[in-house]
Amino acid sequence: MVDLSVKIKQNEKNYPIIIKTEKIADLAEKFLSFTKDKNYLVIISKKVEKIYGKQLNIPKENKFILKDGEKEKNFNNYQKIIQKALKMKLTRNDAIIAIGGGVVGDISGFVASTYMRGIDFIQVPTTLLACVDSSVGGKTAIDTNFGKNLVGTFYQPKIVFINPKFLKTLDERQFKTGLGEVVKYSFIEKSCKCEEELNLTNFLSEKSQDILNRDERTLSKLIEICVKLKISVVEKDEKESGLRRILNFGHTYGHAIEKITKYKKYTHGEAIVEGMKFAFDLAVKKNLIDKNYKFLAEDVIKKYNFTKVKKFKLTKMIELMQLDKKATSNSIVFILPTDYSTVDAFDFLPEELIKLLN
Ligand code: NAD
Ligand code: GLY
Repeated sequence: MVDLSVKIKQNEKNYPIIIKTEKIADLAEKFLSFTKDKNYLVIISKKVEKIYGKQLNIPKENKFILKDGEKEKNFNNYQKIIQKALKMKLTRNDAIIAIGGGVVGDISGFVASTYMRGIDFIQVPTTLLACVDSSVGGKTAIDTNFGKNLVGTFYQPKIVFINPKFLKTLDERQFKTGLGEVVKYSFIEKSCKCEEELNLTNFLSEKSQDILNRDERTLSKLIEICVKLKISVVEKDEKESGLRRILNFGHTYGHAIEKITKYKKYTHGEAIVEGMKFAFDLAVKKNLIDKNYKFLAEDVIKKYNFTKVKKFKLTKMIELMQLDKKATSNSIVFILPTDYSTVDAFDFLPEELIKLLN
């Protein structure tokens, strides 16, 4: 078992992150014992309920089953969950537990942060993306018709229980989407300013077969490395006023891919992988890195056989990138590689991008 801890100093919001491969039933006992003397509401994704409902054995009256898909991370479901919590008479001393991927985690966290101005929140991530990224760091959100994640809060969980056993049943595309974020950490590792040298790039190169075969020990180590990197970033910059922006490596162009394909054709991870390739190209054109590093990065990406993303017209993509909530008035912010596993933020005007890339 690995017991990590997030220490966000300014608000004393410390919480443990437990990574343990154990029987799902044992895990359920553990997180329910954490709620002893409390009432609790579990929000669980429909698919996870179908596969693990029996082993988890959560009483029906304590459960809200959320249908699957990004479109369910909406205001309507937020309201339904709040109403269920009110009917259950949950008080500020009670708890909300999220069991599922990032969709369940984000909407449940938003409920927890707003219900009675905030009640305890427990994360039990069941996708690779949720294990390595969304369950740690306290970003919560719902989507609106104007875009993804436009309404949300920063609200840290009380505890995160990560169990790599869940990842056995993820479908191949969902597993790969999480790997997209994992690969991202390898390109930003040094900028995460983690005291420990983790060398994720080597791990990804040497262990690719074990990772793709979902060997539990290897996945556990992989998650541990990524979580350590994420902890290091969010401890230094909880609310994304600076350092945390590096976690958006590959996301500027990646979000534009998701938008242009209406969030239907590619998963988030597939779009982000393409966004990282775009960032490496741009960094070479801007003379930030030499071509050797770009080739090395492409080799790491190739090992994981991500779905190929088609090319889109640059002018259209620039238009979409300008609409991104992280863009400033005129310019577009990119996180770009500047050295091995090192990145920095750069502003580009659209005409500058066209000149460099055409
Ligand atoms: P998801 O939550 O939609 O889950 C993907 C699918 O996998 C769902 O159908 C789900 O039911 C299913 N699933 C979950 N666990 C399973 C398991 N163990 N076995 C089989 N199927 C399982 O997708 P995701 O990729 O986990 O999360 C994406 C969401 O996360 C997006 O909404 C994104 O905005 C958000 N996100 C948030 C943060 C953050 O910091 N809060 C960071 C990254 C992404
Ligand atoms: N997933 C990006 C962040 O947590 O900031």
